[in-house]
Amino acid sequence: MRPLVAGNWKMNGLASSLAELVALKAALAAKAPACDVLVCPPFTLLAQAAVVKDGFALGGQDCSAKEGGAFTGDISASMLKDAGASHVIVGHSERRQYHGERDGDVAAKAGAAWRAGLGAIICIGETEAQRYAGDANNICASQVDGSVPGAATAANTTIAYEPVWAIGTGRTPTTADIIAMHGHIRNCLVRRLGEAGRGIRILYGGSVKPDNAADILNLPEVNGALVGGASLKASDFLSIITALKQV
Ligand code: 13P
Repeated sequence: MRPLVAGNWKMNGLASSLAELVALKAALAAKAPACDVLVCPPFTLLAQAAVVKDGFALGGQDCSAKEGGAFTGDISASMLKDAGASHVIVGHSERRQYHGERDGDVAAKAGAAWRAGLGAIICIGETEAQRYAGDANNICASQVDGSVPGAATAANTTIAYEPVWAIGTGRTPTTADIIAMHGHIRNCLVRRLGEAGRGIRILYGGSVKPDNAADILNLPEVNGALVGGASLKASDFLSIITALKQV
């Protein structure tokens, strides 16, 4: 399985930030990465980023479950595709937390992404309170059941495991905990999807930085990373990309 390292710029980036993508493109052209590379800038930069894009793919950070119509402020999956995206993140914990998105909404968005020809990166992960209560496995299992539509395949879906308490905090689970959770999520995918569940990439996300990337990215069942803050600077993002061992 070829890993994927994806950058989620969140609500960061102006036209001047496109210089980071120019630098990323140059570095990837100079040395081919051992993984697929994806950048998810804000919607406003997608079309301009598509002009720069070479050696990496582009994704949106969210999409509407609707195809189009009177939904002020929303963006459809086909608009993302039209602007140059091949993927879209759905169900990020910040969407779940600040916009009240629930598993059913996330599954509907994944379906909309597929209908537009986009790959869905479906995010799951427990809060700190849930982990302390010993509920992390149950939470992630129910998020897989509720957020991942039954037609998910390796071609149309990626899972991102992002423990909420590790996002933007500089804290990460132990490597043993990451291995255990990714193995658990794999079992959940296979139980839900059968053989198709074996080929779906499971990314780790939450405070992945240049100095911990090698330790996290080369663990069993870690098929790449979803990187927030450290994806904003091409040099940091490249350090993470190159932390992956060539296979
Ligand atoms: P950080 O890498 O900034 O912790 O963010 C992770 C994340 O939420 C990526 O989607």
